[in-house]
Amino acid sequence: MKAAVYVQYGQPEVFQIKDVEKPTPANNEILVRVSATAVNSGDVRLRKADPFAVRFIFGLIKPKVNILGSVFSGEVESMGKDVKKFKVGDFVFGHTDMRFGAYAEYKSFPEDGSVALKPADITLAEAAAIPFGGVAALHFIKKANIQPGQKVLIVGASGAVGSAAVQIAKSFGADITGVCSTVNMALVKSLGADKVIDYTKDDFTKNGEIYDVIFDTVKVISVSRSVKSLSKNGIMILSAAGMSEMMQGLWISKTSNKKVLTGVISHTEADILFLKELIEAGKFKPVIDRTYPLEQIAEAHAYVEKGHKRGNIIINI
Ligand SMILES: NC(=O)c1ccc[n+]([C@@H]2O[C@H](COP(=O)([O-])OP(=O)(O)OC[C@H]3O[C@@H](n4cnc5c(N)ncnc54)[C@H](OP(=O)(O)O)[C@@H]3O)[C@@H](O)[C@H]2O)c1
Repeated sequence: MKAAVYVQYGQPEVFQIKDVEKPTPANNEILVRVSATAVNSGDVRLRKADPFAVRFIFGLIKPKVNILGSVFSGEVESMGKDVKKFKVGDFVFGHTDMRFGAYAEYKSFPEDGSVALKPADITLAEAAAIPFGGVAALHFIKKANIQPGQKVLIVGASGAVGSAAVQIAKSFGADITGVCSTVNMALVKSLGADKVIDYTKDDFTKNGEIYDVIFDTVKVISVSRSVKSLSKNGIMILSAAGMSEMMQGLWISKTSNKKVLTGVISHTEADILFLKELIEAGKFKPVIDRTYPLEQIAEAHAYVEKGHKRGNIIINI
């Protein structure tokens, strides 16, 4: 089968399209003929080994996993003898968690992983745009226990995590303010934001507004500055936190009445099913910026690395 392979860390050009062995599903696995995957900010970190700590988990000198791609949509082509939940011909979507391997024509996957039937009324490309931002946003929104009527500020509201966070927090009944640049204001409003702040013209840390929850998806404002815009007992979510923000968050949580949430999320079948239901209820629509063929994976990575994509970048396999 065809796959985008990388055997060394580096620039987007490290990818090579190669013929590799097609996976054989284990007894509890489905074999998915991948229709679409996505290039996410997380894939860029792994391709570049940035931050350096990536190397301690994914290979010190060179990557241990040679096919990236953590989200997929496609058709079940075959399955192991013990699979009960799916049948050949089902259209599915999901997140591979730490297994990766979706930049390829086929991916085998345990039936009890983060995989579900594709929502009926969306395309396979849209289905591949659900899990990365959707699960990350849902994980933190649940952890913050967002309640109806709470004032929630979402920084980076036009990115993959941000565009999902606006819609999911809105479905929880929160009052949403999105922060994005001029060009993305209409998009963020259309996702359900009650107010939109253009960061090229206004600084939310200086407008006197106070929020119950601030969800910074892109780590662009210093924590010590943005925490001042939190209400008493307010919660700051830093989904893009590095080690120093995590330590700072720990300190703020210990020494004040405010709480900072950070950490690496895990992917569950329950979260995927929750997002599927939200989509079927018309409350969540994944945002797609551009679509590339697998052969242009380097171009897709270069675009994502600029940090200004709108929602998701899809790769058609
Ligand atoms: N904790 C976890 O386990 C976990 C899970 C998933 C993701 N993440 C992390 O979450 C972060 C976000 O990922 P993502 O894929 O959503 O990012 P992304 O899609 O690449 O974010 C791009 C968006 O950020 C916006 N942006 C850039 N500068 C901004 C600023 N100063 N103010 C407001 N918005 C700004 C851009 O809008 P403009 O073009 O308008 O500037 C663009 O739409 C990444 O660091 C990722 O690694 C963590």
